[in-house]
Amino acid sequence: MNKVRATAPAKVNLIFEVGQLEPTGYHSVNSLFLALDLREEVSISVGLQGTGITIYVKGEDLPARHIAAVPTDESNLVVKAVRLLSKKLGIETPDIQIDILKRIPVAGGMAGGSADAAATLVAFNEYANKNLGTAKLTLEELLEAGSELGSDIPFCILGKIAVGTDRGNQLSAIPELSFTTHWVLAISQQGLSTPTVFAKFDELGQSSEFRDLVELRNSIGTIEDLAGCLGNDLQASAVELMPQLSTLIQNIESLGALRAIVSGSGPTIAALCSSKEQAETIAETLNGQGIFALTASSPALGANLEG
Ligand code: C5P
Repeated sequence: MNKVRATAPAKVNLIFEVGQLEPTGYHSVNSLFLALDLREEVSISVGLQGTGITIYVKGEDLPARHIAAVPTDESNLVVKAVRLLSKKLGIETPDIQIDILKRIPVAGGMAGGSADAAATLVAFNEYANKNLGTAKLTLEELLEAGSELGSDIPFCILGKIAVGTDRGNQLSAIPELSFTTHWVLAISQQGLSTPTVFAKFDELGQSSEFRDLVELRNSIGTIEDLAGCLGNDLQASAVELMPQLSTLIQNIESLGALRAIVSGSGPTIAALCSSKEQAETIAETLNGQGIFALTASSPALGANLEG
């Protein structure tokens, strides 16, 4: 039996416009997603007979609490991804071992769990084809499967840059930025739950008019243009729930970052920097202040198989 490994990227929402809470329980959103080269890694190998799906989680450059927070039971999205794909492929869920290497902060608004699910969908599609003789699902079918599991999963499959509408799961690929972007990611001690941040958003009653993000993307020619249009409708809600985020944003901008914003539902602060060196220097300064910080850059590919 062949072992299969895949990776998938973290995301930042360069622009995150949030509309009404729909009867589905989700908010309509209008998002400009960017993938970052901070990647989760998932390996699937044969498991002991009769043991079902066994999960092992390790971390790289992440505080231990991020790893401890990851469930290893049925509630983990990777298990749901394997069960859904098995159903679509018309097979019984096989006995497999899934090893997850986490690099994306947990509950940080950077789609770490979604990246695990995206990598799992790609890896299991290959694993089942190689070892169990199933047909391979197409990219479209994988995007659809991802969409059934979570709003950010299709983007973690697609990567690069895209506009996301509906729940954020309906994607339109758009031309990549003409420059590399470098980011500092400042990670808070505690996570924020996505539904809690959306509920706070409803309480504050601040839904916005959606702009044409394809047109907006086309107006971005330089890093300064990009810095000028970064925005997140969930930022006020995240700051309301964690007021210290406001000081953190000011702190990072005072260190020279072009712009710092809450990433997705937070609480990670994503700060756009003018160079790799600047991003590294700011991250070092933050780490010296006791604030855990990483660096990452774009462009980054979507979920893909690793040799
Ligand atoms: O799709 P996902 O499982 O990531 O969403 C987690 C939760 O975040 C949803 O149950 C919902 O409460 C909230 N959400 C939302 N609107 C979206 C995406 C997520 O209200 N567009």
